[in-house]
Parts: sequence; C-alpha cells; structure tokens
Amino acid sequence: MTPTETSATIAPTTGTRHFLKDTDLSPAEQAEVLGLAARMKAAPYSVQPFAAEGSGRKTVAVIFDKTSTRTRVSFATGVADLGGNALVINPGEAQIGHKESVEDTAKVLERMVSTIVWRTGAHSGLVAMAANSRVPVINALCDDYHPCQLLADLLTIKEHKGSLQGLTMSYLGDSANNMANSYLLAGVTAGMHVRIAGPVGYLPSAAVIAEAEERAAETGGSVLVTVDAAEALLGADVVATDTWVSMGQEEEKAARLSLFRDYAVDEAAMKLAAPDAVVLHCLPAYRGYEIAAEVIDGPQSLVWDEAENRLHAQKALMAWLMHRSGLAVVDGLPPLSGPA
Ligand code: CP
Ligand code: NVA
Repeated sequence: MTPTETSATIAPTTGTRHFLKDTDLSPAEQAEVLGLAARMKAAPYSVQPFAAEGSGRKTVAVIFDKTSTRTRVSFATGVADLGGNALVINPGEAQIGHKESVEDTAKVLERMVSTIVWRTGAHSGLVAMAANSRVPVINALCDDYHPCQLLADLLTIKEHKGSLQGLTMSYLGDSANNMANSYLLAGVTAGMHVRIAGPVGYLPSAAVIAEAEERAAETGGSVLVTVDAAEALLGADVVATDTWVSMGQEEEKAARLSLFRDYAVDEAAMKLAAPDAVVLHCLPAYRGYEIAAEVIDGPQSLVWDEAENRLHAQKALMAWLMHRSGLAVVDGLPPLSGPA
C-alpha cells in the first residue's frame, strides 16, 4: 500500500497478484522471483518493502489450518527480515472455517494486513480468499499444491546445477499429493523434464497433467507420468520424494506404507539416476520409508539447503507480489507497466 492510501482506497482486486499454485507465475515471472531470491539470499536485508520510509502496512497474516515447522518459521523470520510483522494464527485459533466463512474472513483481513499467507485443505478456499482480497494471498500448502516449497526447491537446484532448463527431475512416491502436483507444474514452468512415478490410482489427475503439458509446450520442458520407478529414475539429474502419509491421511497410514514400497528413494534407486544427481525432500522425512537414511543423510542430499531456501524464496515472493500488485516498489524489478 502506498503511503497516502487508506484501506478503503487501495487498488481493486484485478490489480492484485496472488500465488495459489505454481502456474500462477509465468515462466518469466518464476525466473524473476528466483533471481530476486538469489539476490536477497546474498544480501538478506537489502530489500525491505515493509520498512521503507512512509511504507504502509507492516503486518502479514500467516494462518495455519494444519501444523508446520518450516513454513511457520520461514514466513515469520522472512517477514521480519522484510521490515514487517508476522501475525501467526495457529490451527483452531481463528473463526475461519467453523464460525465464519472464508469470504467474510478475507474481507476483514484485507482491510488490515499487507499479505495473507494460508495453509489449508481445499484449494477452493484459497481461491475464495483471493477473490475477496485486495492484498496478495499466498498458498502455504493445501491438499493439491505446495508452490512455496517448489520455489525453494528450484532455487536449491539452480544453486547446485547452475540452471534449470533441460534438467530431468524425477519424483517418486505418492504422486497424487500436493508435492507431486507442484513438482510437475513448477518444474515444467522452469523448462525441466519432469517425471512422476507412483502406483495406479496415486498419480496426478488428468487436469494437472494437461496443465503441465500445456506449460511444457511453452518452455521446452516435458512430462512423463509412469508406474515404473526405474523408468522415472534413469539418468535423472534431480530425485525427489515426499512422505507417503500427508497431513489428514493418518488413518490410511498402514495401507499407504505398503502401497508405495516400490517407490522408495534408497541406494538402489539412486544407482539408476545420474552419478551427480541431487536429492530433495521437502521434510518432514520418514527414514526407512520414502527415503533411506543413507540417501537423505548422504553426499547427494540437499535437504538442509532446500529447507533454508524456504526463507529466501518466500521473502522474494512476498516482495515480488507487493511490487507486481502496485503496493510497494522493489528496486531492480521492472516497473509495474513493464514486462515481467
Ligand atoms: N516442508 C514443509 O512445508 O514443512 P512444514 O510442514 O514443517 O512447514
Ligand atoms: N505432502 C505433505 C507435505 C508436507 C510439507 C503433506 O501435505 O503433509
């Protein structure tokens, strides 16, 4: 928000940019956010949209309907680094979802805060929040996508491999979950060849595959969805996995632990990937299930850099969304009227 604006006069929702899923950023915009993240990682306090003299709102609402370690800490510290104040609302602490609709909650929050960050279940809730908010809304994980995690993952891969375009990234395991969808959509947006392997019935939906293929046609990336873990792994530059039991699926735990056994990222799986392949896991990890201890704690694993990069990627995302929404000016980014 610019210094002279009041909550009643801020821009209409049409000018506001949100980040609800990976493809909400065009390929050029994703590259711009990752470039800003690298710049801000090198100089962590160089971009402070919330602290600039005369800047408007300082508070970012960070709402959790599900538990979190990395997302909570990276948003809280990231907002502070940007010169702002994070208002963290833990599961069950607000009226949203049980006493008050998403729409009414959005209409209240958008009059007070500069950005709304929300971890929830249904993606449709995030869409409803954004439709009623004149400030950016960020998806901090939902049942279908985890796009902030993928910004961190891509930043990590870029740091270690130099570039993203043309790399092969393979994800194994529960391929119907939020991480599989986000690997697919964010990976092809970066021009990567994304391979997804999981059992029948636990693969990405036809709609997500179609969206990924459309994006891949634009960037030179490609999509392979298979039930054959070896086919996905062969020569891969990046190997990724995630828990087999996502939040909310705890009652299915016993069945899931046997369902995905053939998709474990263990030492045998890593022998099929490129010799210099790197390993990612969004964490929390379950050693001996989706990933072997020897792999996650071994020399090819980048998981701690990946976790740290949540902070840098999300700081860049928040600054970029404020800039592109006309609510702040970030030096070094193209002016609002210019191309992304
Ligand atoms: N990777 C991730 O989102 O971790 P948390 O659930 O701890 O936030
Ligand atoms: N798929 C996992 C990701 C956790 C960060 C879940 O939704 O629980």
